[in-house]
Amino acid sequence: MQEKGESINILGIETSCDETAAAVVADGRIVKSSVIASQTKLHAKYGGVVPEIASRAHIEKIYPVIAEAIEQADVTKEDIDAIAVANQPGLTIALIVGVTAAKTLAFVWEKPLIAINHLHAHLQSAVVTDEDLQLPAVALIVSGGHTCLYDYRSALEPKLLGSTIDDAAGEAFDKVAAILRLSYPGGPSIEEAAKKGNPDAIKFPRSMLGKDSLDFSFSGVKTAVLYYCRGQDMKGENKVDSMSGQEIADIAASFQAAVIDVLVKKTQRAVERIGAKTVLLGGGVAANNELRSRLQQMCEASVPVKKLFVAPKQYCTDNAVMVASLAYYKFKAGLFADMTLEPKATG
Ligand code: KG4
Ligand code: ZN
Repeated sequence: MQEKGESINILGIETSCDETAAAVVADGRIVKSSVIASQTKLHAKYGGVVPEIASRAHIEKIYPVIAEAIEQADVTKEDIDAIAVANQPGLTIALIVGVTAAKTLAFVWEKPLIAINHLHAHLQSAVVTDEDLQLPAVALIVSGGHTCLYDYRSALEPKLLGSTIDDAAGEAFDKVAAILRLSYPGGPSIEEAAKKGNPDAIKFPRSMLGKDSLDFSFSGVKTAVLYYCRGQDMKGENKVDSMSGQEIADIAASFQAAVIDVLVKKTQRAVERIGAKTVLLGGGVAANNELRSRLQQMCEASVPVKKLFVAPKQYCTDNAVMVASLAYYKFKAGLFADMTLEPKATG
């Protein structure tokens, strides 16, 4: 255990989806190492994450990734104060690899074990490097599996305000990219294609789910893109193959604008509802420059919001820095897990 005045080093482990990641973070803020083995290439030909393949790749990479994180951080096991792992939500056969590795290390090295909610960790990624956080905040987490709005008053207890009732925002980007035959993962390729497109070319639906709702629905806009390309009855020819680059770019830009309009509008609603002084943005889709700048504009125009905290790009998609960073606050609060810890699909 650490001496008085010494920093607290936490080893974080992340295997909830298709990234095997480990990191060492001191005092929740100082990133000593961050190692990520991405499986994107393994899943690309299937157009989405295949759980069985993800799990096997985690098993192959988990040990070298952890070893490299410790080496890069230039620490020994004696310097590590706790082992933290994302145990929910995610693919259980992927999560179990990280959970088993963390439990094993905690047991053998006699260190405390800390269980981390992957979504709360995404939220933490927006504040890892910033100190001047005014509360209350609204946090928007947009990833491949989730779209959530939180009332954030403390790192340990974010309160869920709303979430998606069907597709997640990132999932919609991935599916629309597949319809447009753009490369996987879809988010970055839609963003790239959209740069040359006109966001007003096609008026795709913005599903608001009632004037007070803070939930999201993105399956309608995805289906609208599908019908646009294949005809209302899906019996027409697939027009994508004969479309010009400009037409594809216009669809990508119009789709992206529809999704971002909804995300920004709902975040603004949440801000007004709780009187937020700050907005936090995290998750894979937070890497999208258009979303970042539209939320920035919304924050500048809203009272009483003062500031937007966006996760640095390297911490938007899955990583273990966010896990180790959040674990510091659980460590300080004495919130430890034990050897009965299990992975959970939901959370
Ligand atoms: O957070 P993340 O790494 O994994 C989950 O926890 O789900 O997010 C991955 C998602 C994918 O759907 C990917 O297409 C999307 O984030 N994404 C983006 C961008 N970069 C990644 N979506 C829109 N624009 C981007 N630039
Ligand atoms: Zn994630």
